[in-house]
Amino acid sequence: MQQILQTRVLKKTRLSERVVGVTLGLDNGTALPAWEPGAHIELELAASQIEPLYRQYSLCGQQDNTHEWQIAVLKDEASRGGSVFIHDVLQEGDVVPVSIPKNHFPFAANKKCFFIAGGIGITPIMPMVKAAAAAGLDWQLLYLARNTADFIFLEDLRQLDGSRIKAHASDLDGQFDLQKTLLALDGQTTVYSCGPQGLLNALEQYQDEQTYIGWKLVLERFAIEADASTLTGNSFTVTLQKSGKTITVASDETILSALKREGIKVKCSCQNGTCGTCETVVISGLPEHRDFVLSEEERELNETMMICVSRAKSAELVLDL
Ligand code: FES
Repeated sequence: MQQILQTRVLKKTRLSERVVGVTLGLDNGTALPAWEPGAHIELELAASQIEPLYRQYSLCGQQDNTHEWQIAVLKDEASRGGSVFIHDVLQEGDVVPVSIPKNHFPFAANKKCFFIAGGIGITPIMPMVKAAAAAGLDWQLLYLARNTADFIFLEDLRQLDGSRIKAHASDLDGQFDLQKTLLALDGQTTVYSCGPQGLLNALEQYQDEQTYIGWKLVLERFAIEADASTLTGNSFTVTLQKSGKTITVASDETILSALKREGIKVKCSCQNGTCGTCETVVISGLPEHRDFVLSEEERELNETMMICVSRAKSAELVLDL
């Protein structure tokens, strides 16, 4: 069972026209659990009267501040309501149930780090850069944004060592030559990147090409749109261990939508396999993992699966639901 903390909004500040910063803490000055760079927390938002919304945000504040957690939230008008709720409704003093930090994007403090942040993707990168600077590592940061006005935390970052940072805004500087930058990296470098899907896809594609052999790539995905064609496949059945119910998942629906169709409530958030909220224990059967959360080793264990996108290789799955 996930541990939930009843945090309070201590501060809400505007970081740019489209981004607000939210600082959360516990009442009575109780210390918050420790976290590592790359970690995120999940907020339970009372954005609808029917059911809460669950949204994940990277922790981007001071790791050694055990009394405050800071997140930065981009207002996405096309969102399903989470970021709009935080921008327009959430206020200082409000109570927000929050999970303890989880980390699907761990920072290994490699000797040579090349950080690439696209837009709001700076949030998990920011603590990594600070950790790299504190450890005296050889680091560089490439910070890409569409508009100059979208940069957040830039001045703070420049205080660490401005000579290691390149900020590139397309409205002012034109298109960035990512390929040229990547070609200059050597095999000792680990690239950490978080940003829009297009940026991450381009990095993966460049790394696949022979010319780029050598550097290691560690990615954090967010805000991807699930492609319907990647969610479909063979029909199979899901048996819910706790209720004993068996449900057929049609070839054109996900386990999550099949459960919803049957009126079974399951906690979910991104619905595109990137956040880990719907992670479910597999009791038997063979999942076909289609998420971006589990590592290769975790996939091979087949102990859990993300039911918003993953399907079954076997005719039946038994889940701990
Ligand atoms: S709801 Fe986010 S991974 Fe399934």
